[in-house]
Amino acid sequence: MKVTSVINQKGGVAKTTTSINIAAAWAKEGKKILLIDLDPQSSATRSVFADREFDKTIYDVLIGQMSADEATVSSESFGFDMIPGEIMLSGVDIQLAPQFGRESFLKRKLKNLHSKYDHVLIDCSPSLGLLTINALMASKDIIIPICPEYFSLKGIELILDTLKNLRTGLGHKVNVKGVVITRYKNRKIAREVIERVQEIYQLKVFRDYIPDSIAVEEAHHQHLPVFAYAPQNPASKAYVKLSKGLLDT
Ligand SMILES: Nc1ncnc2c1ncn2[C@@H]1O[C@H](COP(=O)(O)OP(=O)(O)OP(=O)(O)O)[C@@H](O)[C@H]1O
Ligand SMILES: [Mg+2]
Repeated sequence: MKVTSVINQKGGVAKTTTSINIAAAWAKEGKKILLIDLDPQSSATRSVFADREFDKTIYDVLIGQMSADEATVSSESFGFDMIPGEIMLSGVDIQLAPQFGRESFLKRKLKNLHSKYDHVLIDCSPSLGLLTINALMASKDIIIPICPEYFSLKGIELILDTLKNLRTGLGHKVNVKGVVITRYKNRKIAREVIERVQEIYQLKVFRDYIPDSIAVEEAHHQHLPVFAYAPQNPASKAYVKLSKGLLDT
């Protein structure tokens, strides 16, 4: 079981979109996938399950006695299992802060899932607080989505600093699988940012840029993976290709 987090503390860079579409594409390839919605806003949960209410969420798993297994629900249209998020997650940073081993609660809770899934994907919130640190401690790899603009570079620097602190402070090494270019429009600024990410930070930028497309937004509203909603759309093709490529690495 491989655990991967989708992180960027910058809001609205398509973390959730990227998480649910990669998870769905992997599921379609026959993999057993668990998606965890670790964001108080719970956009992934809303996108997959619409208005459905859940009385068991990742909050109960982190804060209560509940096992990850107990909080898991299946989505037929996405083909994966999910642990929903909820607004109560917004208090977790404070609730965990005084606790011993506060950075590793999620990691411990995921341990007994080992034989059940090929991959666990964690959709993180736009912050680098304790929730995201828990995601990082539970993960071997991360994927960083960016909408290319100049601020993206500063964001990447912060993420890399955080990874460095985890390595020195907690002895946990996280591998950056690569950067996903989202909402891509063929503009000079985008091309420049992509070049810089590779040059300055020596990070892999996946070649399947996800183009900006209204179909992506519409798929959220239809509660479908974008490749199921609009298979021929360039954004669908890009997500499918990206996901297949990720499985091979
Ligand atoms: N390729 C795309 N083309 C058009 N719109 C997109 C694309 N990708 C994402 N979006 C839209 O951008 C918005 C933000 O996407 P998303 O919620 O995935 O970002 P996020 O990084 O998870 O945000 P947050 O930081 O709030 O969690 C959504 O309305 C989504 O539908
Ligand atoms: Mg999100």
